Amino acid sequence: MSFEPSARIETVLSEGRVFKPSSKVQSTSTISGFEKYQQMVDSAKSDPNKFWGDAALKELHWFEPFETVLDWSNPPFARWFDGGKTNVSYNCLDRHVLNGKGEEIAIIWEGEPGDIRRITYKELFMEVCKTANALKQIGIGKGDLVALYMPMIPEAAIAMLACSRIGAPHSVVFGGFSSEALRDRLNDGEAKVVITADGGYRKDKIISLKKAVDSALKNNACPTVNSVLIVQRTKEKISFNPERDYWWHELVPAQSSECSPEYMDSEDRLFVLYTSGSTGKPKGVVHTTAGYNLWAHLTFQWIFDVKKDEIYWCTADVGWITGHSYIVYGPLSNGVTTVMYEGVPRPSNPGAFWEVIQKHKINIFYTAPTAIRAFMKSGRSLPDSYDLSSLRLLGTVGEPINPEAWMWYMEVIGRNNCPVVDTWWQTETGGVMISPLPGAIPTKPGSATLPLPGIEADVVNADGDSVNEQEGGYLVVKRPWPGMMRTVHGDSKRFRESYWEFLKPKDGSYVYFAGDGARRDIDGYFWIMGRVDDVINVSGHRLGTMEIESALVSHASVAEAAVVGRSDEVKGESIVAFVTLEGSNELTDELLKDLKMHVVNEIGVIARPDEIRFTNALPKTRSGKIMRRLLRSLASGEEVKGDTSTLEDKNVLDELRR
Ligand code: PRX
Repeated sequence: MSFEPSARIETVLSEGRVFKPSSKVQSTSTISGFEKYQQMVDSAKSDPNKFWGDAALKELHWFEPFETVLDWSNPPFARWFDGGKTNVSYNCLDRHVLNGKGEEIAIIWEGEPGDIRRITYKELFMEVCKTANALKQIGIGKGDLVALYMPMIPEAAIAMLACSRIGAPHSVVFGGFSSEALRDRLNDGEAKVVITADGGYRKDKIISLKKAVDSALKNNACPTVNSVLIVQRTKEKISFNPERDYWWHELVPAQSSECSPEYMDSEDRLFVLYTSGSTGKPKGVVHTTAGYNLWAHLTFQWIFDVKKDEIYWCTADVGWITGHSYIVYGPLSNGVTTVMYEGVPRPSNPGAFWEVIQKHKINIFYTAPTAIRAFMKSGRSLPDSYDLSSLRLLGTVGEPINPEAWMWYMEVIGRNNCPVVDTWWQTETGGVMISPLPGAIPTKPGSATLPLPGIEADVVNADGDSVNEQEGGYLVVKRPWPGMMRTVHGDSKRFRESYWEFLKPKDGSYVYFAGDGARRDIDGYFWIMGRVDDVINVSGHRLGTMEIESALVSHASVAEAAVVGRSDEVKGESIVAFVTLEGSNELTDELLKDLKMHVVNEIGVIARPDEIRFTNALPKTRSGKIMRRLLRSLASGEEVKGDTSTLEDKNVLDELRR
């Protein structure tokens, strides 16, 4: 894999603005001042086992204490807090109820049509227990995988917590994925049950989730799935199979609201979450109980530092890791009020986000750069017309944020009154890895700043050696951390090879390769440059180019396909596909539409190509590898630079240029 610095970063590194934490922010922050951050970094470095061990004892409830903090004797397979027994739903619910917080609000939920629910910790606890008992009644026990394919409704969080209560790992599949994509994930994880809804609201439309589940399960295509549990949300008509299907509103309320939490080993699986890599098949990232819980809990506390009576809102969907760690587990483990919003800004309600902030008096707001860039484009008059004065901290996640968008966010949404935290992390890291701590670390627009305490991040070359300041390289993490993924479900070889053996330092140590390029400036600040592998980031959604290529090639008219990302002002990247057709197939508008629809059916609407270009041949090396670098330049209308001597047939390039 060659390292190709993007032009974007050249401008970013000349960014000279620095924003120090204000005295107000410093005085109200738990981690206040750079020295405090440095002390934490130093103590994590000098005695990591003590640092993480103390944190685990202080922040989590243990039914039985752990014996070792980290077992790294068989790298890259880490074991954290071995011997300990805990339960994530206990940490998120029982302990708060027992500590007198039962009447405090755990979840404020607002539905797309405007319906609102406020759920206290006590109520959430009881709902989770009932759901856990319902799952038991339909035969789910410890170790059985439960798939969720749900809209953004409280039942999604309830189901996740119910799974963790009985030790059944969950696998949440984003509701925007197609039935084909759902089927692959159900089969790969060997799910026993699917929890879904009749339908979900998405941009003024209804998506028929149950129909997609039926289609995924058709003809016994997922033989491990025995039952389907359905929440009634949109009340649309569904087909109901009495031998397999259960209504949530019939099964769950009838259960007892007492359910003892399963005593889980620290390393028992908590969930599997599929994400895209550089092969055609998404990988099931495995996270385990104690380490993940601690990491989601600690990072949430360090970065967002939510005070009593404050309201926190993350706009992600629970189908992604951001929803797992920062809508459900991080906030609830800390006993905070977390907002769940089913809607998204849409033409019929472009001010949806600002309305939610105004209505619920949100204090901490966490969203994606793509949303900020879209708002920026439509001007400040809309956000200016809302009362956003409750805000005190703004966060971004999911993709690089350009300095202009960062500044706009701070000025227009934060009214120059809120620190902005740009948080870098991944599905694999479980929680944030590089981010400002708002009371301690000065920010620079476009930089995720410094690694959190205990995280030894670096930028290295292909030999695994650290590169100089300002030089581009691969972003790596040099020590294990509690929230790290433990393996790829069913494919430990892939885990070892793609994350830990891609870069092998001479001393033989294991470093985690994130798949991102980065630079560090003279202050040691990290500037993330985006993926260096065949993964693209479209509106904060991570997609494998090979996944989209496989989808295209599975169409009868397509012979070959190559997919690349093209820089996009709002979405970060857009999808451009180069396609050669099978035999006598003719290029028509209808076929173009059909191909786009085919990708939507195979993967989901997030993977629909923005542009498809037909060509007679793809540029390949003599050994038959597609030269994506050339296609990337062509897609963005740039001059094809660099070495083309390995190109097998130079005419192909000329044709593509035309
Ligand atoms: O390329 C990085 C980008 O998103 C990738 C991880 O995607 P995913 O696993 O879907 O998780 C997204 C939510 C954590 C990374 O490899 N990314 C994430 N956050 C940032 C980012 N790129 C730049 N800056 C960020 N703050």
